[in-house]
This record gives sequence, C-alpha cells and structure tokens, in this order.
Amino acid sequence: MKKIFTIISALFVTGATIADEGMWLPALLKNNYAEMQKLGLKLTPEQLYDVNHSSLKDAIVWFNGGCTSEIISEQGLLLTNHHCGYEAIANHSTTGDNILDNGFWAKSFAEEKPNEGMWVSLLVRMDDVSDRVNKALAGVDPKMADAKKSEIFKEIEGEIKKTGYDAQVKSMFKDNAFYLFVFEKFTDVRLVAAPPQSIGKFGGDTDNWMWPRHTADFSMFRIYANKDNKPAPYSKENIPYKPKKSLPVSLKGLNEGDYTMIFGYPGRTNRYETSYGIQLAIEKINPTIVALRDVRLSAWKEEMDKSDSVRLLMSSQYAKISNYWKYYIGQTEQLKHLKVLQEKQEAEKKFADWSKNKAEYASILSNFEKAYKDYNNYALHATYFREGVLGSAIISFASNFTTLEKALSGDSKNAEEITKTVENIKKAEANFYKSFNPKAEEKILARFTQMFYENVAQRQHPQYLTDLAKKSKGENNTSKFNAFAAKTFEKSFLSSKEKTDKFLANPDLKKLQSDPAYAYFKAFYDNYMTNVKSHIDDFNIINNEEGKKYVKALMEINAGKNFYPDANSTMRMTYGTVKSYQPKDGVDYNYFTTLNGVMEKENPNEFEFRVPAKLKELYKAKDYGQYANAKGELDVAFISNNDITGGNSGSPVINGNGELVGLAFDGNWEAMSGDIYFDQKYKRTISVDIRYVLFLIDKFGGAKNLIDEMNIVRGDSSPVKGTK
Ligand code: ARG
Repeated sequence: MKKIFTIISALFVTGATIADEGMWLPALLKNNYAEMQKLGLKLTPEQLYDVNHSSLKDAIVWFNGGCTSEIISEQGLLLTNHHCGYEAIANHSTTGDNILDNGFWAKSFAEEKPNEGMWVSLLVRMDDVSDRVNKALAGVDPKMADAKKSEIFKEIEGEIKKTGYDAQVKSMFKDNAFYLFVFEKFTDVRLVAAPPQSIGKFGGDTDNWMWPRHTADFSMFRIYANKDNKPAPYSKENIPYKPKKSLPVSLKGLNEGDYTMIFGYPGRTNRYETSYGIQLAIEKINPTIVALRDVRLSAWKEEMDKSDSVRLLMSSQYAKISNYWKYYIGQTEQLKHLKVLQEKQEAEKKFADWSKNKAEYASILSNFEKAYKDYNNYALHATYFREGVLGSAIISFASNFTTLEKALSGDSKNAEEITKTVENIKKAEANFYKSFNPKAEEKILARFTQMFYENVAQRQHPQYLTDLAKKSKGENNTSKFNAFAAKTFEKSFLSSKEKTDKFLANPDLKKLQSDPAYAYFKAFYDNYMTNVKSHIDDFNIINNEEGKKYVKALMEINAGKNFYPDANSTMRMTYGTVKSYQPKDGVDYNYFTTLNGVMEKENPNEFEFRVPAKLKELYKAKDYGQYANAKGELDVAFISNNDITGGNSGSPVINGNGELVGLAFDGNWEAMSGDIYFDQKYKRTISVDIRYVLFLIDKFGGAKNLIDEMNIVRGDSSPVKGTK
C-alpha cells in the first residue's frame, strides 16, 4: 500500500512508504483517488467535493472555530463531540438544572437551547488566489511582509463579504500557495442533546489521549436559518436549516481493514519543523507549559472539589487547560521515545548535502541555526509571559484596562472614548467573573510570580519584579510571593466584580495606575514589549522566510508526488483503514471496545469512572436493540490509521459508501508527537462507534424524535465482529 512520501521518507528514510499520512484538501484529491478506491471507496471524486452539485463536503460543518461537526438530518441536525459542546452545555447548567451531570435530550424544537456567540460555517467553495497574493507581496521587505499579507487577504475577503458570504484567505505550504475559502456562516445554533458527562467524558483526564477508550464523546446541535434558509441572528422566527446534503447513518459497523475517511477542520500541525525547533520544545517550552498548567489545575481543582456550584462554573476552563496540559506531556514523551530529533537531524544532514550547490537553498539550515541561537535566549520568557503572566486570570483581565488608561489620560481624554471602553470592559466582565475564583487565583499568582522570578533569566526581569522580591517580607521566595499575592488580592479592585463595577461607575486614572494587579500587568507587559518582543519578531521573520524556502525545496525534491500542506483550520480529508496496533512488545491492542469495558472500568468512588444507573440496567438486560453487533454486544469505540489533529474533534468517520460510521474524538498516547511527526506504526484516530451514539440517544435518552429525523441505513449483511 502506497500513498505519499513525506519529505522525510522520500528523501531520507530508506524503503519506507507511508500509507495513511496526509490531510488533503478535498478539492485537490485527484492524485489520491486511485488509492482511495483500492482501499474501498465506492464514491466518485465529485461525490466527495463539488461546487455545483451537492457532495459530501456540504455535510461537513466548521464548528465554532475549534471543532468539526456534520449534518445528519434534513433539518440541520448537527453531531459533534461532547468536549466541543462542553462550554455550551456547562453554560446552560446550574445546580437546579444540571445538564452537564445529568444530560439533556430535547424532545421538540421548542426545547432546544440557543447559544450566544456560537457559530458554524459551511464551505461554499475554495479558490486558488496565489497569483494575486504573490503579486501583492512581490518585492516587499520581509519585515513588512506580514502586514502586507493581512492587507491583501482583507482586500480579497472584503470582496466576498460584500456579497453576504464569509471568507478567509489561508496560506498553504508556508506561503508557497494561497487559497480563498468562501463560507456561509450561521450564528443561530441551538443545543439539542448531550449525554451526562459521566458518559460523554467517561474516563476523563485519566483516559484522555489514550486507547483503549470507552467514551461517548458526542453532543448535538441544530442550525437555524431564516425563512429563506439563509444565515440570520437568533430569532424565534428562525426555522431549522435545510442542508444541501446530510450524511446517512450506518448500522453496519466496521471490521479490521475497512476503509475509513474523515472530513474536518484540523487546526495546526508543524510537520516541517526543524530539529532546532523540536529541541527547544522538548527541553524548554513543553516542560514550562506543563509546569505552569500544573499550578493552575491543582489550584482550580481544590476549589472545584469544595462545591458543585463552583465545579459547574469552572469545569469548562479546567477541561480546556487540562486537555493540552496532558497533550504537552505526551508530545514530549513521544518525541523522545520515537527519536524524532535524531531523525530530523539525519534528514537535515541529507538536505544540507542536496542543497549545498543550490544558491536558493544552500543557507537555509545555517540561517535556521543562527535564528534559533538568539531565539533560545528569549523563548522561555515568551512562554512564561503567555502561559504564566497572562495565565493568571486577574492579570490577564487587567490587560483589558490599557485602552481605558489611554482614554483617561492626557490630551486624548475624551468622554465618548471613555464610555465606549467602559462598555467593552463590561461586556468581557460579565463572562470573566462567572468562572473567576479568587482563592485559587491568589495561589496561582503567587506561584507564577515565583516561577518567573526563579526560572527566567534575571537580566530579563522587569525592574518591578526585582523590587518586589526585595521589598516583600518572608524568609524564602515562597512566603515572599505568597505575601505579595495576598496583598494584591486584598488591594486590587480587580479581585471582585463588585469592586470592578464600582471602579467602572467612576473610572479614575490615578486609581487605575496604582492598582496592584494593573501595575503588575503593565510592568511585565512593558518589559516584554521593550526587551523581548523584537527578538521574537526577528526570529519569526527568519523562521517564516526560511520555512517557506525549506518547504519549496522539499516540494521540488518530491516533484510529481502528492504533497499535503500543514493543517491550518481549513477543510481536509484523510483516508485510511480500521487498524489494531501493538503499543509495545508483547501487547496487542484490539481495534474496538465494547460496553463490557465501560463496566470493567466502573468505579463509583472515582468521579471520572462512574456509570449512571440507567446505563447499568440497559447493560444488564443487554437491551441494545438494533445497535448491537453481530455477537449481541454493543461496540463503543474503534481505531483507524487516519491522520487527524485538534480541530478534527467531532469529525465524521465515513465508510466507503459515504455513510457515517463513527465520530472522531481523540488521538492515541503512543503517537502524541503526531502534530510534528506522523508515525505510521503507532498513529491512530480514536472514534466513538455511531451505534453507541444512537443507542444512547434512543435507549438511554429516549429521544426517538432525533432517531426518526435521521436516514439510518440498516446492515443486513453485517459481517461478524471480533473474529481476529
Ligand atoms: N483529547 C481530546 C482532543 O483534544 C479531548 C478530549 C476531551 N476529554 C478530556 N478528558 N479532556 O480532541
């Protein structure tokens, strides 16, 4: 089986072919098609992507910027992950009506819950605009390239937006190509269903990023449109959207080796990263992110464990931070385990050899090396600033007041401007204080300040921090910074909504400038802007320039072969097959799990592993109805070797006939380095079996109304499972 050669394999890894790697642009699939057919695809390329007729792409929906969803009924019913709907579900939860813990099943349109600020986008078409962008960029000073790029992007997008569509121009292959994506963007999106989080997040952070898995990671929403089926702001008059295409849902199940394809909006990969970048990530950046997130998570957890109402308010932010906390642990571990650094270094040696007589490419690697030398001195500071200074909720909220400070001071003192800024802060404020926990945040500020003080190069500290350490009382850094944080929370008006409201009712420049939380933000921010930012900017300019040349060279080396761009939140398609794997010597992982495994993992004393009574009853009675597999068991999850990443969450897994068979929701531990390096032996996509989803909607949630909306394809010739 042969598909593409990655840059590394083609040039440098002997004899290796990679079968499942690649996040392909659905409009440009021509060269992959023969192999897709060989693997089991029965559809034509036009049935996958077509601009003039309905095709699979019309059922794939970009979900609120960070996830994917798919249309599964003629009435705009959307399926996505539970963790993609999590914030919306949590927002609708109170201790009195706790749908996060108890689940929610709308039995009629009227019960569906609107979500302010939520949006979904449907792709209308994709156009190549490389010539136009390149013309605009020709001869532009590299320092100005980014600004010029945004300008021409905005110009092109503006032309489309005038016609009522949404538009985004995206760079591909590190600026070697540019594409315009035209969307229809809907903002009336309502919550339809979610299982209790004990089912939708079963296994929690313990099982996250791991196989074998037993999570029903799904929730449902619905797109609403105006009477002309067009996007419109929320209104009672809106009606369910009538899609061009909705996915049929299959009860047939999958066997090892079966064809699977996944459409979605993968967010970011960095497959063309150099060894220098990988080394920096392993040694400095990743461990720093993990250490700082450890602090936040344990401080939050302590408070969340004290009461359900606090837990409900903080659950969503906790889940977000913990998801990528574990991601960075896994990525670091697997980059080391799979010796990705060494592999990249080998590849770069060969690249140096190939490029040494080519004027355009000969200095790429040495330029990278030089750029990283300086960047290495500042990257830690930048990470501390982003994850630490701005990771402290009170300090990051203080950043909202810089425009107010400007409006309040000097000549620009302007009543209209002041009113406007105050209004903007008020908008952010309502949301902010809901999940703000001063007890936890005081601890976080103390530890972050201490960690910055102890770990960031002293010559890069703001004078403010040096003074603070000197004047704070205490016998060691811990007690000193504890005392500082306690005082900050006592004195700052930002430490509570009441005090902030009082300040905003009568904003005063002196009061703002002497506020300890605001002063802290200003000190770290100004220091960053004057002493650090220019180094980061210089690095980015070289990294972009050399990266563009590097990828261009790699495309030249791979001329005639398929070559895919890094993920960048544009619609992609990945194809592969259902496939088990061996995580280590002597261990064999089957390709699917069943409800039996949920019961094996059950632990009523562990929040993450509770099983609701009703699910246990259904299990005891083996009441699986038409959703059982051929052996009478209920399949829960499966793995396939598709190439996905964050942003693909909620993506449909589609069989060779174009039917929905699963819902992708995670990757596996052994391939956590996947965003930088695709490992063909280990890389798997973890999906929930669609039959488990349907079973839960029907038998657990009693929402027959939703099942009836779908076009369910029954599996008469369903092959027997588990014959392996
Ligand atoms: N790892 C999953 C992803 O990024 C998210 C899973 C959410 N579950 C959790 N326990 N945090 O797609």
